[in-house]
Amino acid sequence: METHVGHGRSVSTPSHTSFHRLSSQMEAHQNDIEQVLITEEQIQQKIAEVGEQLSADYADRDLLLVGVLKGAFVFMADLSRRVRLPMEFDFMAVSSYGAATQTSGVVRILKDLDHEILGRHVLLVEDIVDSGLTLSYLLKNLRTRRPASLEVCAFMQKTGVQQVPLDIKYRLFEIPSVFVVGYGLDYGERFRNLPFVGTLRPEVYRDAVS
Ligand code: IMP
Repeated sequence: METHVGHGRSVSTPSHTSFHRLSSQMEAHQNDIEQVLITEEQIQQKIAEVGEQLSADYADRDLLLVGVLKGAFVFMADLSRRVRLPMEFDFMAVSSYGAATQTSGVVRILKDLDHEILGRHVLLVEDIVDSGLTLSYLLKNLRTRRPASLEVCAFMQKTGVQQVPLDIKYRLFEIPSVFVVGYGLDYGERFRNLPFVGTLRPEVYRDAVS
């Protein structure tokens, strides 16, 4: 289903003045979006479903969510509040595309976990799987630390571009192989706070290089 932005979205803020400042800025931000691929409603609905599934699957295990920064922070926050179980959190940061829209295939750990995962039930939370190189590297790396279990919950996966075989137990959306922003995903560090996932207008890339 295709949905176009530009109407019906509001932001509630404490004062009239700040409302106008914030809303016009967000409008300019949203005007950079060409097409909405996954709506806020679709996202929240799917997260509720997966949250239920995780609540059942981990009912008798101590769950440790490991988020891959920065992209997964929005998804992880929403997902974790839909899992009706106590859990702990840790984060890793790896190198991403930076201002580019193509993966380099080289993965660097920028921030490691704060705690050991030996004997823990780890659920790795990823924003998007494109070539799969990042995830493949992370899984190999985390397995060497001998967790009791290690599964993946990926918000999105691009179809037909995976370069390595991966076992992704929980995957919320499959999308075509296009560059997307929103719901944690950025282009040059922008657009992460959009509550939906969409593609950018071509002018946005042109403006960035000129
Ligand atoms: P992979 O190693 O090619 O699978 O790339 C995974 C990482 O690249 C993700 O965790 C994102 O940070 C980034 N990435 C991949 N595709 C996109 C996209 O369409 N928009 C923004 N970031 C992306």
